Amino acid sequence: MRVGLAVLVIHMTGLLHTCTSINPACDCVVYQSHGLSSGRFTSPNFPQYYPSNINCVLYTFIGDATEIIELTFIQFDLKMPDPSGRCFDFLRVYQNLERPEVNEHNQHDMEFCGGYNSIQSTIYSSGRSMVLEFHTEPRSGRPGNYTGFKGIYRFLNKANYITTGIRAQGKQCTYDFHSNSSHISGRFFSPFYPQHYKASTSCRYHFHARQGERVRIMFTNIQLHHIDASPSYYSCRDSPDVITVYDGTDSQAPVIGQFCSVRNSEEVVSTGSELVVAFTSDDRNQKQGFAATYEFMSRVIKPKGPKSIPDAGVPTTSPEFQCNENINSRHHRNGTISSPNYPSAYPAPITCRYIFTGVGRERIQLRFLHMDLHFPSGNPAEPID
Ligand SMILES: *[C@@H]1O[C@H](CO)[C@@H](O)[C@H](O)[C@H]1NC(C)=O
Ligand SMILES: *[C@@H]1O[C@H](CO)[C@@H](O)[C@H](O)[C@H]1NC(C)=O
Ligand SMILES: *[C@@H]1O[C@H](CO)[C@@H](O)[C@H](O)[C@H]1NC(C)=O
Repeated sequence: MRVGLAVLVIHMTGLLHTCTSINPACDCVVYQSHGLSSGRFTSPNFPQYYPSNINCVLYTFIGDATEIIELTFIQFDLKMPDPSGRCFDFLRVYQNLERPEVNEHNQHDMEFCGGYNSIQSTIYSSGRSMVLEFHTEPRSGRPGNYTGFKGIYRFLNKANYITTGIRAQGKQCTYDFHSNSSHISGRFFSPFYPQHYKASTSCRYHFHARQGERVRIMFTNIQLHHIDASPSYYSCRDSPDVITVYDGTDSQAPVIGQFCSVRNSEEVVSTGSELVVAFTSDDRNQKQGFAATYEFMSRVIKPKGPKSIPDAGVPTTSPEFQCNENINSRHHRNGTISSPNYPSAYPAPITCRYIFTGVGRERIQLRFLHMDLHFPSGNPAEPID
């Protein structure tokens, strides 16, 4: 039984026509980019139950040569698989196609059935095209009791996912980033990002600032496979997949950041002009990985004007630099504090007091994400920070 009528109800922005496919009996819906555009796609008859006995419907997404495709499922409800995991009704994903078509030689990358929690809710193509193949089993003409799927497609600019460093020859993800007058910032990613990284990945990102500069890294998205469910920041010791940031030229240097699990907006700043980011994964449960930006920044201190803190209470030794802070849980339940001029060097001499006040049975938790204070080298006359 063909489902031509049902397909018409899929979504009107898709063009309905025959396409090159596994099986000439497939129906096709094609979504073609018109410049970083987006829209919705649904299973036939959505949100009513989808028909049984759909041989195949192919959803073909075609971007411009400079684009990749992101699909986000908002709803997903297909028949549950049998106990061995075999799907009766399924949606297959072809995300690594060279051309916008599939035939009997293409192996699908993923197969989804069951409920929303059993699928990867956001998927990306590696190139300009992606195909979904929807199939439902015969049920003697009756529909099943499943609504199918609804999702959003977006065409994204591929250039935004390209690491802006120099890749070492013969290495998949060893990069060098050199600061110069025309290159002071950029991006770097785990391999294949925004697709998932692969098993047993080992990457190194070496940053070389110029004299008088430091390296600032901002992780905008981190999604790694992790075991430890505790919310602690520095519990990455037993983590299978981990990002480690070294404050120097290699893994002998002090660790100034370590991330596993899921994070966003994590900043790390080197003390000197060299920094290394290492990323390793084991052979199980690959996730999306990470996206980060870097910046080579000057060490020069730009003093800010005096901060006026109405309630400050405690005098500072440096009247021109008011850095005391009173933090009251009545106003803010959480937040960040940093030394003056952070992430640039703090001025000297200076004394800052940070006073935390809670109410009732509250306690205060402080988590230091970065610490870099002057440490005297044996001279007793030298001041200690
Ligand atoms: C469909 O599922 C709902 C909820 O699980 C149930 O109440 C209903 O009886 C089912 N209908 C059919 C035709 O199986
Ligand atoms: C600066 O670095 C970039 C990226 O590494 C490189 O393409 C460019 O040629 C360099 N420019 C100069 C002036 O060295
Ligand atoms: C900080 O507080 C805001 C609002 O009070 C809350 O939404 C947020 O989840 C809190 N963040 C953490 C890490 O506790």
